[in-house]
Amino acid sequence: MSNLLKDKNILIMGVANKWSIAWSISKKFIGEKANVTFTYFGEKSKANLEKFLKQEGIENATLISCDVTKDEDIQRAFEELKDKMGVLHGVVHSIAFANKEELQGFYYNTSREGYLMAQDISSYSLVAVSRYAKPLMTEGGSIVTLTYLGSERAIKNYNVMGVAKAALEASVRYLAVDLGPSNITVNSISAGPIKTTSAKGVKNFSALLKGFEEVAPMRRLVKTEEVANTALFLCSDLGTGVTGENIHVDCGYHIVG
Ligand SMILES: NC(=O)c1ccc[n+]([C@@H]2O[C@H](COP(=O)([O-])OP(=O)(O)OC[C@H]3O[C@@H](n4cnc5c(N)ncnc54)[C@H](O)[C@@H]3O)[C@@H](O)[C@H]2O)c1
Repeated sequence: MSNLLKDKNILIMGVANKWSIAWSISKKFIGEKANVTFTYFGEKSKANLEKFLKQEGIENATLISCDVTKDEDIQRAFEELKDKMGVLHGVVHSIAFANKEELQGFYYNTSREGYLMAQDISSYSLVAVSRYAKPLMTEGGSIVTLTYLGSERAIKNYNVMGVAKAALEASVRYLAVDLGPSNITVNSISAGPIKTTSAKGVKNFSALLKGFEEVAPMRRLVKTEEVANTALFLCSDLGTGVTGENIHVDCGYHIVG
């Protein structure tokens, strides 16, 4: 432990259960002495968070309900955050959703409703979150989101989520330009495939994992903790010169032709 996040107030959005990438990031940040606050979606996620935080010896962490499809929820969450923390130094946005039926078959069968929902939850939410985070980041800060290679390549069954992730990554660049003068960095981490609840919504996800291991230069899957380490780098003082970037944490998979 080197206390890389000591005195930093960080909001983590997207812990659902123990497999969530956001939970791995949370554990890492807690270990580095961050003051963490959470938003959650749904009572089950809240109960899980309460249990996990107790196990980590964290008492009185603020947990705020936030459905990112609702502007009023995001606004209220940041108002509460302002009351509790005053200044904010980091936001981890680890949120995505698409209907299961959109994550299989032909992309041209994507429904209008399914397309808009994937964009709303998985991409637009970062825009709204950044807008509300900015006034609280009076000492500069770091905004980090999670993405996947399906934004850059047509990956079987990833379909509408690949398009949402492409928009998310483009948003990262525009937000980095907007927020750079306020000393706020905005970056995405492109994680290799990890078995989580969201990932299991993609048809034949286990085949994708197997193919990944065979092809990735490191011949193995990425560990959630390795993704968390990169989030730590970006939210700590080590990552202050990096913005608008998409960092692949995927055992090199994306470089292979
Ligand atoms: N698992 C992977 O293979 C992988 C790879 C690369 C990127 N990612 C990305 O990592 C992020 C986290 O996903 P995960 O794999 O940890 O799965 P997860 O299911 O644990 O996390 C997804 C989170 O999104 C939240 N969410 C969904 N709809 C919401 C809404 N309307 N309002 C607020 N929150 C909402 C869920 O509650 C959940 O906490 C996602 O952006 C995902 O696309 C995952």
